[in-house]
Parts: sequence; C-alpha cells; structure tokens
Amino acid sequence: MKPALVSGIQPTGKLHIGNYLGALKNFVELQNTGKFQCFFFVADLHSITEEFNPKEKLKQVENLILDFLAAGIDLKKSVLFVQSAVSAHSELAWILNTITPFGELRRMTQFKEKTGEEYETTNVGLFDYPVLMAADILLYSAKFVPVGDDQLQHLELTRALARKFNSKFGNTLFEPKPLLTEIPRLMSLDDPTKKMSKSRPEGCLFLDDEPEVIRKKIMRAVTDSGSEVRADREQKPAVTNLIRIYSAMSGKNAAQVESRFKGKGYGEFKKELAEIVIQGLAPFQKRKNELKKKRAAIMKQITAGNKKANMVASKKLAEVKKKTGLV
Ligand code: TRP
Repeated sequence: MKPALVSGIQPTGKLHIGNYLGALKNFVELQNTGKFQCFFFVADLHSITEEFNPKEKLKQVENLILDFLAAGIDLKKSVLFVQSAVSAHSELAWILNTITPFGELRRMTQFKEKTGEEYETTNVGLFDYPVLMAADILLYSAKFVPVGDDQLQHLELTRALARKFNSKFGNTLFEPKPLLTEIPRLMSLDDPTKKMSKSRPEGCLFLDDEPEVIRKKIMRAVTDSGSEVRADREQKPAVTNLIRIYSAMSGKNAAQVESRFKGKGYGEFKKELAEIVIQGLAPFQKRKNELKKKRAAIMKQITAGNKKANMVASKKLAEVKKKTGLV
C-alpha cells in the first residue's frame, strides 16, 4: 500500500498565482509521482470560521473544485472531495477536542493573527480550527501533509494529538510528517510591503484574470528608483518581487532574469513579464473554461470522491470510537 498524503484548501474566493505556485502546482506534481495515495479536499468547514455569505459558499466550493481539476488533479489518480460531505471530520474533531489543552490552541500564531485582541467576540470555531485540521489528517492515516510553513504549528499539534490519543487509548492514529512546500513570497504589485492577497485585488494576479487584466496590473505595478532590473530586497523591493514572479512562472532563477534584462529598462521587463504570466496561465484557463461547461457531470464525480473518502474516514472513526468506549 502506498503511503497516504492529505491536504486541503479553503474555499474563500478566487485563487491567485501564489496559491497556485504554493499549493496546487505542488499537489499535482506529488500526485504525478505515483508514489502516494493522495487525498485532496475543499476545506469548507474551515472556511465558515470567517465571515461568509451562504449563497456564495457553494459557488466557491464548486469553483475551487474546478481549480483543482484545471491545475491537473486527476480523479483517476487522486481522491478529491468536499470536507463537509464527510461527517467523520466533525466527529473526530469533537473527540480530539477532549484531549486538546486549551493553552495549546491559545498559543497558535494563526489564531492570534486572525483575532488580535478580539477574544470575546471571536467564534469558537476559529479557536478550534487546528483540531479540525488534525482530524482531517488523522482520519486518512496520512504519512505526509504538503503545507506551507505557516501551517507547521498546526501539524505539530496534529502529531501531539496522535501521540496523546495513542498513549491514552492504544495505538490508533498515525503521526504525519509535513512535506514543506516552498512558497514563493509574492508581494502585492501596488505595494511591495504587503503580501499578495485577494483583499488587494489591484495588486493581485488571479488565476482567472484575462490577459488584458494581467497586462494592466503588471504595467501599473510600482517599481523602485533607478532603472536596473536587479534583485535587491533592501534597495529594490518592488522589482525584486517582479523578478520573483518572473522566476516562479518561467523556471529561470533570479540571476538568469537579471542577465536577460541587463541594459534594458523596467518597461521592457514588465512587458515580457506580463506575457510570461499570461502564457503560464493559459493552459490552466483553457482547461477551466472547458470544465465549466461540464459542471454538472463534474459535481457528480465529486460525489464519488466524497464516497471514497467517507469509506476510509468512517473506518478510522469507528476504530477511534471503539477505543474510546463510544457507540
Ligand atoms: N489550514 C490549511 C490552510 O489554510 C487548510 C487545511 C485544512 C489543511 N485542513 C487541512 C491543509 C489538512 C492540510 C491538511 O492552508
């Protein structure tokens, strides 16, 4: 049996190129090694811990499914499913809650960043987010979890909970290892001190952006003083960010990009960068447009994915309940 690998993405809106390079692209490469039994899912239960519109939620879920498939997730090779369709996730999360120390969750950096000082009005789901994530992983006995470094603390908790459950109730849960994905740190095109994010749409390159929109955003991107295309985080943060995007989309390293644009100005660099991004996204966009036409058939296939996930997850949940003395 191949080792299991699990990862999820929250459906919270359109994906940008950072999401693609940091997660999806890597998932597809891992899938295509043929070395793992892959489970990928849409983390909709996680996503409702933040402000959302119920009418939009299902659309976001479906859109993310199309993104997974357009990026190259293959339903013959991987199990793709929706978290809320597999009720074992919520059930295991509850059981794990009872062995999770309050203090561990209070220390989570992501929780602190998301809440600030607003403890009294923060929903408890946001606090409990890492325990649900642990359940996501442990249900599939994942050996590997591809994540960015912002999720390492949550993975450490997952490992600690597996150990604790096993020592209290007997060996049941498998301790997973992170597969660290190198996430290019992409900054906003209109302000290189801010992370590229959908909350700053003008500075964000979305996977679905039309060529004209990409050109406009890149040509309008802020640059630094001087005219040399050179990576220098201190002196040239804006140009360094553009070089990083160029590198990530073309596979060329920073030195190669610099030498290509030696003696040329920012204008020429940006023009070519726009074309590199447009070409880089074209296969994804073409596939996504084709998939959109088959939306109903695809959602039916996802029901099959939900079923497969449910089979694996409910078996593990039954084992956990038995060990714990639950019915
Ligand atoms: N918390 C992850 C993120 O925001 C998403 C996620 C939820 C996840 N459950 C998971 C990732 C389980 C890996 C495994 O990126």
